Amino acid sequence: MGIKQIIAVASAKGGVGKSTICANLATYFAKDFKVGILDADIYGPNQHILFDVFKSKPEVKTIDGKKSFIPIEVNNIFLNSMGFILDEDKAAMWRGPMLSGAIKQLKELTQWGNLDYLFIDMPPGTGDAYLTVASEIKPNHVILVTSQSKLAVQDTIKSKTMFEKLKIPMIGVVDNMSYSVYPNSEEQIFEFPSINLENEIGLKVLGSIPRTKDLANFNPNNLSTFFEPLYNELIKFT
Ligand SMILES: Nc1ncnc2c1ncn2[C@@H]1O[C@H](COP(=O)(O)OP(=O)(O)O)[C@@H](O)[C@H]1O
Ligand SMILES: [Mg+2]
Repeated sequence: MGIKQIIAVASAKGGVGKSTICANLATYFAKDFKVGILDADIYGPNQHILFDVFKSKPEVKTIDGKKSFIPIEVNNIFLNSMGFILDEDKAAMWRGPMLSGAIKQLKELTQWGNLDYLFIDMPPGTGDAYLTVASEIKPNHVILVTSQSKLAVQDTIKSKTMFEKLKIPMIGVVDNMSYSVYPNSEEQIFEFPSINLENEIGLKVLGSIPRTKDLANFNPNNLSTFFEPLYNELIKFT
């Protein structure tokens, strides 16, 4: 009953692919399990755009005297997002505690039903939102997303230190955009000298996802097979 496992997809760095990895993994898991996504990116919610439901609004119902959100069901996933709730122009000026309070409410007031997995798409940074998620939502696992750049790796190390302090277990790192695959080709093109992420970050690399045109244009009905090994790896830990 309730939510069996909560997995946060996180990274201190923006633009490394947290939302992309979260959307693809959730869709992959939803083939076999009951899955939800909580888009906690208060600064730039994206999941409602990726799943093409940005014009929807979760229905608000009063249940046991409390206002509750009915999540949007899309591609077999139950979704609630800051993007449905926030007036983004105003939210940009909110202070940290207001924003992190909003994440807590979004999680608690949503009627998730019984879920096997709730994925949380985290904002960039190491600020209030992370403290709230760690203390109030208490994910069972964290997956860190990085790309093969010096800056992303340094920020991933920052995230790792923070989660260690918050005592939230990290399963490992996703090496996103680590090589390129161009349309109609199977060739793997490594454009940059690769960084040994396990040595640099000190966490297991769960999988490497290429940079592709399809992944840049997420379509939940046309899932990328590149996520299969990552899914198989994650299922062992959760
Ligand atoms: N594996 C990938 N292949 C191609 N484009 C990607 C890939 N991962 C992310 N992107 C693109 O990179 C940008 C940043 O990704 P996003 O998921 O929004 O990152 P974050 O949530 O960490 O800010 C987006 O434009 C996204 O479409
Ligand atoms: Mg994002």
